[in-house]
Order: sequence, then structure tokens, then C-alpha cells
Amino acid sequence: MNYRHVYHAGNFADVVKHVILIDLLEALCKKEKPFCFLDTHAGVGMYSLRSPQVDKQQEYQNGIAHLFADQRAKQPAIIEKYLAMIKNCHPDKSLYYYPGSPYFAKKIIRPMDKMILCELHPDDAEQLKTLFRCDEQVAVHHMDGYLAMKAFLPFHEKRGLVLIDPPFEKTDEFQQILRALTRALKRCPSGKYMVWYPVKNSTVVDAFNCAIKKLTAAHMTIHFQRRDMTDALKLNHCAILIINPPWKCRERLEDSILPYLGDVLNASWAIDS
Ligand SMILES: C[S@@+](CC[C@H](N)C(=O)[O-])C[C@H]1O[C@@H](n2cnc3c(N)ncnc32)[C@H](O)[C@@H]1O
Repeated sequence: MNYRHVYHAGNFADVVKHVILIDLLEALCKKEKPFCFLDTHAGVGMYSLRSPQVDKQQEYQNGIAHLFADQRAKQPAIIEKYLAMIKNCHPDKSLYYYPGSPYFAKKIIRPMDKMILCELHPDDAEQLKTLFRCDEQVAVHHMDGYLAMKAFLPFHEKRGLVLIDPPFEKTDEFQQILRALTRALKRCPSGKYMVWYPVKNSTVVDAFNCAIKKLTAAHMTIHFQRRDMTDALKLNHCAILIINPPWKCRERLEDSILPYLGDVLNASWAIDS
């Protein structure tokens, strides 16, 4: 396992992923009944942007740094919430840290909800356990995220969201996701699923999209592509698949969230279903 998310923390792909994650979790909070959030590839929960690894690539400069510096008076409500969570980690208004998916989720869930976080890298799992020590709402497991989908679905709460955000180091990652989703949808057909993936090899991505269409009709995919990043070796296009999207999610994304992010991050976007 060579992948270290700290190199990429706060880049444009992280920003889009976390804003959409917040929207999905907020939608789950609209119903009174409790829910569970399962983060299959959780990372460490908080990243220092001043660490030597970040110094090399400074990927956050193409992501969160643009939103942090954005002065416009009117921002979509979800963006305001997202930025407030990040600004709360920075009392002196400089950008030192970037939170991960578990941190954002913990800020949104209610006392009755639960979180299950899985991380396979032993050091990262340890760091994540330290971040949530003594927190009874959060269970951290040093385990494979796909196995976790077998172990923890269906949710006790009968409602929930699974975030699948792997590093795509392995050549069969898309197949692993498909296998896990096929199994999960049998056990928990009404669950919400969010999958982040890089768009680099169009043949592989097209095959994945075809397989998803056969698996379920209730889905949509958000594409987000930076206009000014043309280095073929760097990520400039990512996508997020949502299965069983919440009510009006597409409208919120199309009407305000994606136009704002596209503008601030100099990116084009599209939603396929
Ligand atoms: C893209 S990062 C996760 C970022 C995190 N979801 C966030 O948004 O802040 C992927 C993480 O998955 C971990 N990982 C890799 N393979 C895994 C597996 N099979 N199961 C669980 N975690 C895995 C990596 O160590 C890495 O921390």
C-alpha cells in the first residue's frame, strides 16, 4: 500500500467529493430516524497542509485554496457550511489543515446517528482511532473496506450512506467496486452509495458505467473536469457516482453547487444518469 492521501488532501477532487458528501448527509438528517454512515476507505480524518509531503506538490492550491480565498458575498448554503467547518479549524484564518471525509461527517451527524470508518493502512487506522478515541458514535476498524460492506450491511438503523473512496492503486479497483455494490444492493437495496473515481482510462470508465446501468436505474454520475490542467500524468477529471440519490439532489447540484464550484475551480461539469 503506497498511497498516502496527504499528497492530495484539499485538491479539487477532494473539494467536490466533500461538498457532495455533505449534501447527501444533510439530506439523510432531514428524516427523524437515525442512520449510519459507512466510510469504506476513510483515510486519517485530518491532514496537515504544511507537512513535507504536501510541500512537494501543493495540490490543495488547485482546490481548497481557491475557495478559501473566494470573497464573493453569495455562496450556495452547502458551500458556506463546508467552508465554515474548515475555517473553524483555523482560528488565525490561514490555511494549515484540510479535513477528511470522517471529520466532515462527524460534524453533520446527529447524536442518534452512527459512523463506521474502515482504513487498511495500519498507521492511518491508528491515527484515525486516535482522532475518534472515546467517541461512542464512531467505530474505527483497521480492515478492508469491501469486507466491511459485507460485514456491516444491512445497517441496524435500516438507513444509511456508504462512501467508497479507494486509492485506485490496483488495476482491478473498478471490478472490486462493482462486486461490492452488487452484493450490497442485494442486502441493502434502499441504501445510498457514493463512489468517487478518477477518469483517466475511458475504456475502463465506460465499462464501469455500463455495468452500473445494468445494476440499478436509480443513479446519477457527476463529472468534474479542470480546464487548465492538461498534464496527462496528473488527475484533471474525476467523477462521483451516487446510487439512490436523495430528493432534489440533482436540482441542488445543477442549480447552485456545481455552477459555483465550476466557476471557482475553473472546471466544466456534467451530470449523467
Ligand atoms: C482516497 S483515500 C481516502 C480519503 C478519505 N475518504 C477522505 O475523503 O478524506 C483512500 C484511503 O484508503 C485506504 N485504503 C486502501 N485500500 C484500502 C482497503 N482495501 N480498505 C480500506 N482502506 C483502504 C488508503 O490507505 C487511503 O487512506
